[in-house]
Amino acid sequence: MRKFLLPVAVLLVASALLFTLNADFRQAIRTAMGRLGGTAPATQQDSGLGSPPALAAGQAPALPQPGPLAEPRSLEQIGLPRTLTDSIIPKGSLTPAAVALGEKLFFERRLSGNGTVSCASCHNPVRAFTDGRPTSIGIHGCVGQRNSPTLLNAMYNKSQFWDGRAPTLEAQAALPITDPCESGLASVTAAVSRIAKDPAYRSGFKSVYGHDPNGTDLLRALATYERTLMSFGSPFDRFIAGDKTAISASAQRGWKLFNDKARCNLCHALTATKADPTLFTDNIFHNIGIGIIRHNVVALAQKARREIASGQLQQVDTAAINSELSVVGRFLLTKSSADIAAFKTPDIRNVMVTAPYFHDGSQMTLWDVMDHYNKGDGLKNPWLDTDIQPLALGEREIDDLVALMASLTSPQYRKLGDQEFARQRAIAKVRRPQRDTKRAFGPKPKQPPIPH
Ligand code: HEC
Ligand code: HEC
Repeated sequence: MRKFLLPVAVLLVASALLFTLNADFRQAIRTAMGRLGGTAPATQQDSGLGSPPALAAGQAPALPQPGPLAEPRSLEQIGLPRTLTDSIIPKGSLTPAAVALGEKLFFERRLSGNGTVSCASCHNPVRAFTDGRPTSIGIHGCVGQRNSPTLLNAMYNKSQFWDGRAPTLEAQAALPITDPCESGLASVTAAVSRIAKDPAYRSGFKSVYGHDPNGTDLLRALATYERTLMSFGSPFDRFIAGDKTAISASAQRGWKLFNDKARCNLCHALTATKADPTLFTDNIFHNIGIGIIRHNVVALAQKARREIASGQLQQVDTAAINSELSVVGRFLLTKSSADIAAFKTPDIRNVMVTAPYFHDGSQMTLWDVMDHYNKGDGLKNPWLDTDIQPLALGEREIDDLVALMASLTSPQYRKLGDQEFARQRAIAKVRRPQRDTKRAFGPKPKQPPIPH
């Protein structure tokens, strides 16, 4: 028995090490977090599965607490693009003290107008750093217009937000702090003076950056923490690395479909001609017919042209999060008609545990997402990306593509992924609101011309 237990114990320890930068580093972060002081206990915590707890009017979601799922990920994950990762993480930035400071700030409720919201409120580690809601809910229960994207692997994005309005994680972090529907502080300076009152933060900033808290370093610390959330090591990564039994036959068929008949690689890969198993995004913007069907986009684009001054990032942010103009997507920034209702192709790693889907959270399950693509929805929309067309996928092929997406779940979320797969499959058995087999197998309709 003993003979058997020892190797098992060694294996467990070894695999535990694999999931964090390493145990010593993790301990050093916990110690540094301790020096920065604890965070307040939460009210009703979210389990991570299914819909999050309902909220009373005017109420912000419960404040999530740091835990094992918030911890920095290992660089030793199968499938992690090491050279790219090294080029993204500024040299020497990932010290335990800097990461601990960033993590502490990420869970900090004082970074909101009335102390009820933190970054984690909408990017909860138990939900792969999303909030499980169609669109996010912020300060005073304000319901926004956009779905909270995962922060896992956000460090690899060429631009941040669904419309790419922020070039870096640092620039991104300033916007939720001051958005009136998210954290609702008057300015980043106001955030700095909040935390600068706390001696633990003053000494934390001093030890990492050599001086008292300032705005630049506040945003830098948050971004530093986000750059520890690289997430690979999925069954799919093991399959690509050569373990042919790591994913089911169905998921293997799904991977083939992804790169040919289903046309997913045209956008969810760096190259449209090669099967690229790394980041599942081309980092550009497409109109794929979400939302545009339900809104008068032409009128809204004209309104955006009138009301949003060029280069006014704060104004774009408020419009995107908290106004009907949100649906015009990247057009808010560029005012180029090619960008009407165009949104960034998201990485789809861990997508099994980040429902609901799309920039407006309009689809409940991955089967709904597949039904959307299968019928080529939005074909009467003149700006629709020409790569969207009816796919003529049968039910087994749809299941195969969902199985492929489910195989992209990193080890930390394996159990949740299995539960979520079962939950979504049960819903999809009785409810497929987007399914339109006739259209999926029909011809590609003529697209109307772009109006002048
Ligand atoms: C009230 C909810 C809420 C809060 C609070 C919040 N976020 Fe977000 N976050 C969102 C939503 C919604 C989006 C997408 C908005 C959009 O694209 O227009 C987003 C987008 C992002 C992105 C872009 C990811 C990508 O793939 O493009 C990052 C990074 C991010 N948030 C980090 C943070 C950080 C850091 C904080 C704290 C300073 C924070 N968020 C606070 C809801 C929130
Ligand atoms: C023409 C480019 C394009 C093609 C082809 C495409 N996608 Fe997408 N995908 C996008 C864009 C852009 C979004 C975000 C759209 C939005 O939210 O408005 C997206 C969103 C998604 C999402 C939602 C992710 C989330 O976090 O909410 C999933 C899942 C997805 N795509 C899977 C697929 C699959 C599977 C295929 C093949 C059947 C596919 N996509 C084909 C561009 C594309």
